[in-house]
Amino acid sequence: MSASGESGTAVSVTGASKQFAPLVALGDRIAAALGGSVERRSVRAVDDVSLEIARGETLGLVGESGCGKSTLGRLVAGILPPSAGTIRICGEPVMSQGRRPRKLTTRVQTIFQDPYASLDPRMRIGTIVAEGPVHHGLVASADAAAYAARWLAKVGLDPDAVPRYPHQFSGGQRQRIAIARALAMQPEVLVCDEPVASLDVSIQAQVLNLLLQLRRELKLTMLFISHHLGVVRHVSDRVAIMYLGRIVEIGPAETVYARPQHPYTQALLASVPQLVLDGDAPGSFRPIAGELPSPLSPPPGCHFHQRCPVALPRCSIESPQLRDAGPGQAAACHLVASR
Ligand SMILES: Nc1ncnc2c1ncn2[C@@H]1O[C@H](COP(=O)(O)OP(=O)(O)OP(=O)(O)O)[C@@H](O)[C@H]1O
Ligand SMILES: [Mg+2]
Repeated sequence: MSASGESGTAVSVTGASKQFAPLVALGDRIAAALGGSVERRSVRAVDDVSLEIARGETLGLVGESGCGKSTLGRLVAGILPPSAGTIRICGEPVMSQGRRPRKLTTRVQTIFQDPYASLDPRMRIGTIVAEGPVHHGLVASADAAAYAARWLAKVGLDPDAVPRYPHQFSGGQRQRIAIARALAMQPEVLVCDEPVASLDVSIQAQVLNLLLQLRRELKLTMLFISHHLGVVRHVSDRVAIMYLGRIVEIGPAETVYARPQHPYTQALLASVPQLVLDGDAPGSFRPIAGELPSPLSPPPGCHFHQRCPVALPRCSIESPQLRDAGPGQAAACHLVASR
């Protein structure tokens, strides 16, 4: 559960939005220069999101591809500035005058999906792991190699790997290096964006278990982004369900999975394919009807109303706010409000 008060709150997101300006095609530029009217619509990737993550808590963030999970993760990590709203890490704004304060860089770290893209192929592993901590004065440069070796050992790699390059490692090992690099900065908050999605299934469990073990040991707070509902349930204390830039449901993981209150959460959980084992009746799953609308022109009212099997007339007009839907649980649905 999210603790109230800044002392118990590691991440605090208040009314955060992120819009991306549209790319203007050459034809549109010419049309504009000739006095024609050109429609320019921004992508509303994150739309008025507020949430808190207590110290030591893991919040899972799920939703369909393109719903804004990574953008929200980047806002929390201070990689992107919000278009509106504020994000605080342990009480401090992640952006000050459009820049990330230096101290904050060590407080929040990110692990991305693709360890191939996130590690510089020209740098030795020791430099990759120790460069940030040396730069931020967490370790003296004379001790950098030993510091890197210690972190490599912590993530289950041979400390002798310090002088080697990323291409000399497998995908799973590379993700361990990315974890070592992030944790060597001694952060309080870790944003994990699909950290195992690119790995072989047999490796995924190992890397997840490593993350869970380090989270316990280092008392980390985590924002864990994934489209994999099973993985999110396994790692999260609470879970937030995102749809077209908005949080539509949030609550304790077990409760949300057992008693989802928002029709989108219900549809999302029902759409998960069940494994069919020998002798079992074939599992069934129901894909969510309709397409995810474009974030360039989200529907008015509740963003989900066009795909919702129980939508009311007001759902296409009035945008529902998150409301209490059970102990620690909240859902943004007019039906929940009227119960
Ligand atoms: N830098 C950018 N410039 C323009 N549009 C962007 C940018 N980054 C993201 N978007 C758009 O914002 C929306 C949300 O993208 P985001 O990557 O946050 O979604 P996601 O939920 O992480 O998706 P996925 O599950 O596929 O990773 C998408 O429509 C995407 O095209
Ligand atoms: Mg993403």
